[in-house]
Amino acid sequence: MARDAKIMAAAYRQQQQDRDARRREQERREQEVYHRIPRVEEIDRELRGTAAKIVLAAFEEDGDPDAALLKLQNMNLSLQRERAELLVGCGWPLDYLDDTPHCPQCRDSGYLRDGTPCRCLNVYYTQEQNRRLSKLLDLGSQSFETFSYDWYSPNIWPEYGRSPLDNMRTVRAICGEYAHTFGQRSGNLLFTGAPGLGKTFLSACIAREVSERGFSVVYDTANHVFQQFESAKFGRENPYEEDPDREINRYLNCDLLIMDDLGTELMSNFIQSVFYRIVNDRLLSRRKTVLSTNLTVDSLGDRYGEAVRSRIQGEYQVLWFFGDDIRVLKRDR
Ligand SMILES: Nc1ncnc2c1ncn2[C@@H]1O[C@H](COP(=O)(O)OP(=O)(O)O)[C@@H](O)[C@H]1O
Ligand SMILES: [Mg+2]
Ligand SMILES: [Zn+2]
Repeated sequence: MARDAKIMAAAYRQQQQDRDARRREQERREQEVYHRIPRVEEIDRELRGTAAKIVLAAFEEDGDPDAALLKLQNMNLSLQRERAELLVGCGWPLDYLDDTPHCPQCRDSGYLRDGTPCRCLNVYYTQEQNRRLSKLLDLGSQSFETFSYDWYSPNIWPEYGRSPLDNMRTVRAICGEYAHTFGQRSGNLLFTGAPGLGKTFLSACIAREVSERGFSVVYDTANHVFQQFESAKFGRENPYEEDPDREINRYLNCDLLIMDDLGTELMSNFIQSVFYRIVNDRLLSRRKTVLSTNLTVDSLGDRYGEAVRSRIQGEYQVLWFFGDDIRVLKRDR
């Protein structure tokens, strides 16, 4: 899976912060207990000492090292028993001072022995990625669970031969399946239709679920995407204070790119070539893309050229959105 270095760094930072907080809490507890029962501190010191003595005993020349070892181990056990009784006697749980790592797999280092990120770090990655996605998408309230059919009319629209409700059932099912099964073999989607029909809503549903399944997901408006390419090429003042080269890498390398509101940008040859590059590069590297636009596939072809049209026709599943503008319906209800 393609990981974004900056998000990974933030995830790692967060994980280490949490680990340090746990350590501080651990020290605080130790002081709390030692202050109230000094004997526990004594025992802890002795227990640390016996570990060293056990090692020494094993090397002891004269005498019987096995017997010495056994004696030390017994002493150890009785110290531990005394310590447990003291703790519990004062109302603390038995494991109150235990320094067990949060994640036994990586012992809270974030990485496994072979250098790959541990599952616990991936959880932080997803959190960080969702935090970023939430700046542009309403991940909080827009999910497959909150998706409602109430806004789509059951009356047949003659030019489509079916009702918006019927159509949305299909669209919603396809999007759900896409998100649940997202992976190497997934295809690409194109949402096409008038404003206010749930294209961005469904993009958020997909983004959230695919992100939670551990993939790198980038959502952005087409306008912003093109702006980053322009900034990178023409060294323009970047109004977003991002590093455009880095942003471009994100767009090209993420597992799933969701590019929204395609077709609203001011057209130029440069934008035409950038869009071709995005579509083509991502197809070649088998990375998945969800496009959404108010334009039809034909007008996309007119706008971005024949090469783009044929790739979209061949490699994208087109989902039509039609019905009454939900923004207007919500306002009037
Ligand atoms: N299925 C749905 N259930 C509930 N609210 C929806 C649904 N689809 C869209 N909305 C709401 O309608 C408004 C327009 O939806 P949006 O996804 O932005 O439309 P589009 O991207 O097609 O222009 C938003 O406020 C959105 O939250
Ligand atoms: Mg939209
Ligand atoms: Zn771990």
